[in-house]
Amino acid sequence: MKNLSLENLSKTYFDPYAGTTVNAVQDVSLNVAAGEFVAVVGPSGCGKTTILNMIAGFVPISGGRVLVGGKEVKGPGPDRGVVFQSFALFPWKTVAENVTFGPKMRGVGKAERAKIAEEYLALAGLSHAADRYPNELSGGMQQRVGVVRALANNPDVLLMDEPFASVDAQTRMTLQEELTRIWEERRPTVIFITHDVAEAVFLANRVVVLSKGNVLEEVDIDLPRPRSWDRLVEDGDFKGLSNKVLQLVRSA
Ligand SMILES: Nc1ncnc2c1ncn2[C@@H]1O[C@H](COP(=O)(O)OP(=O)(O)OP(=O)(O)O)[C@@H](O)[C@H]1O
Ligand SMILES: [Mg+2]
Repeated sequence: MKNLSLENLSKTYFDPYAGTTVNAVQDVSLNVAAGEFVAVVGPSGCGKTTILNMIAGFVPISGGRVLVGGKEVKGPGPDRGVVFQSFALFPWKTVAENVTFGPKMRGVGKAERAKIAEEYLALAGLSHAADRYPNELSGGMQQRVGVVRALANNPDVLLMDEPFASVDAQTRMTLQEELTRIWEERRPTVIFITHDVAEAVFLANRVVVLSKGNVLEEVDIDLPRPRSWDRLVEDGDFKGLSNKVLQLVRSA
């Protein structure tokens, strides 16, 4: 795993309707240690997705730079895995083929890919669904395939933008517990964007609160692991941290 650092990162968009420029991200600096899980929260339009897109290399950087393991990012690459809210699985490929698509593109052979599919589908509790097609799965199951498909590329950094936003509350808690378990086992470096303060506090080692393109505050989440909702839902420290982050977001 590698560390990630954002150095004075900025993004200016041109708004063709207003004929003006928008400073979506202004001078953001952030260091994420190798194997750290950082959640990013903040009001709608504060620049979260823009930051993630610049890290992923999908959107040109206006100022500053992004470093992965000390190396400057120049565009998209397999060292960064991405899971978006409206991620797309390939509907014509089975679950196992979806999960091993990245490795296949990298030239990994069939036998090795079968092993990767087995390993990652087990991690997601989806071994039984290997040969099914995405439209035969529930939304939550598809979401899990999206997460392990990104992991199967063995990225140095995992970038997630509201990956659980479109699933029901019950499934969402299960997905959060599964992601925590996977993270605790594998320790990837993660940036996880969400609007859900409880989700951020449950998952992360540190929560970064953004306000209009700037970092407002960072809150360390020193809750013990392994974490589960059974344990945390009534936990005083969890509630205290969630309230603290919520107040920050509301003031942002
Ligand atoms: N392609 C674009 N062209 C022009 N302006 C853009 C573009 N993408 C985003 N913006 C503007 O940049 C700002 C930040 O947008 P961004 O999508 O990063 O916010 P966000 O924090 O992810 O919001 P949300 O929580 O609603 O997803 C907003 O003012 C938005 O209107
Ligand atoms: Mg967004």
